Amino acid sequence: VFDEVCDTTGVTLKRFMSEVAMLNPELDEIKVLFGAIETACKAITNLVKRSQLPSSETLGFQGNINVQGEQQKKLDVITNNLLKRALRFTGRLGVLASEEEDAPVSIPGAPYSAGATKDVLIDAGTRYCAVFDPLDGSSNVDAGIPTGTIIGIYEFDETCEIDFSSLGSEDSEDQEALCLANTLQPGNNLVAAAYCLYSSSTFLVLTLGAGTFGFTLDENLGEFVLSHPNIKIPEESAIYSFNEANFNYWDEPLKATVRNWKAGTGASGKQFSSRYIGSMVGDVHRTLMYGGVFGYPGDEKNPNGKLRLVYEGAPMSFIVEQAGGISTTGTERVMDLIPELVHERTPVFMGSRNDVQEIIDGYAAWQ
Ligand code: AHG
Ligand code: MN
Ligand code: MN
Ligand code: MN
Repeated sequence: VFDEVCDTTGVTLKRFMSEVAMLNPELDEIKVLFGAIETACKAITNLVKRSQLPSSETLGFQGNINVQGEQQKKLDVITNNLLKRALRFTGRLGVLASEEEDAPVSIPGAPYSAGATKDVLIDAGTRYCAVFDPLDGSSNVDAGIPTGTIIGIYEFDETCEIDFSSLGSEDSEDQEALCLANTLQPGNNLVAAAYCLYSSSTFLVLTLGAGTFGFTLDENLGEFVLSHPNIKIPEESAIYSFNEANFNYWDEPLKATVRNWKAGTGASGKQFSSRYIGSMVGDVHRTLMYGGVFGYPGDEKNPNGKLRLVYEGAPMSFIVEQAGGISTTGTERVMDLIPELVHERTPVFMGSRNDVQEIIDGYAAWQ
């Protein structure tokens, strides 16, 4: 289905999504969502690039701690509000979750209003749920290091346990429960995932479940143009990407594997190199382009590592798997994990099949 779309050059994201929607009518509303996502990412890339100018009002810290326990940046808040508005005004969303929102947010007037029933939820067309990290790597933004935005799109989860008959009540717990239930779906349920990387170029990389496609912002046109059709990650490489300051706290099998990669005595016999910028979107994009393993392991201090499953681990795993890579906690496929809390963290290793497999094999022998 995507072949016809990719055999021409100069395909803009708008045209790509229109042609995909023509070939797959059930994706027509996803096209509307990506229109909003595209506009939001263009606005964010401008904000990020201008944030360091003397006249900028968007520099530095917001002056409070977010639900993650992090010093919130002004740009975390600004990009979060920008994305919320852009997605909400598509009229296609029922609920959204964000790194920068304490709890999932139901969209006013969307299906979760009183009296809604399951088919209303679906017929209203506002059956989608978005989860996002509005500015990933935000601690880097004042150092001019690449940052990104990560987004996952789910459909309304018809199997979620909430008793719909109670939705008629004004009981906000039910509505909250329904919202929460829809943001706690496993990555396997994702219908789309995308990231935007604000770097030497502005790249928008997405999957709709049939391959991973990369677009580059042509600032002369103001359009994202298809530049990387059907990305396939190299099967193996010689790059690992971890915050090695935590090495002493890692699990033994990971230490052993990385020692081998450093000594050139791993499965591939290659001498590895280390690359780490501390922005997941930038580290994963390089991994997609050059191959390798990006990871944020669990360790003695933080058994579940640092990355959040719902709006970092799962969407990025979908993109990497659709590019032929794999993504694991070391013992489980990340896309299989069912979140219990919207901000829960998970260890993650994602990238080139053969290299990530070496970590999986190490953990399997250790169990
Ligand atoms: P965010 O800026 O959205 O909170 O995410 C930061 C994450 C991720 O981008 C990156 O891979 C990781 O933090 C880096 O963590 P360390 O600084 O601990 O290495
Ligand atoms: Mn953060
Ligand atoms: Mn992040
Ligand atoms: Mn973030």
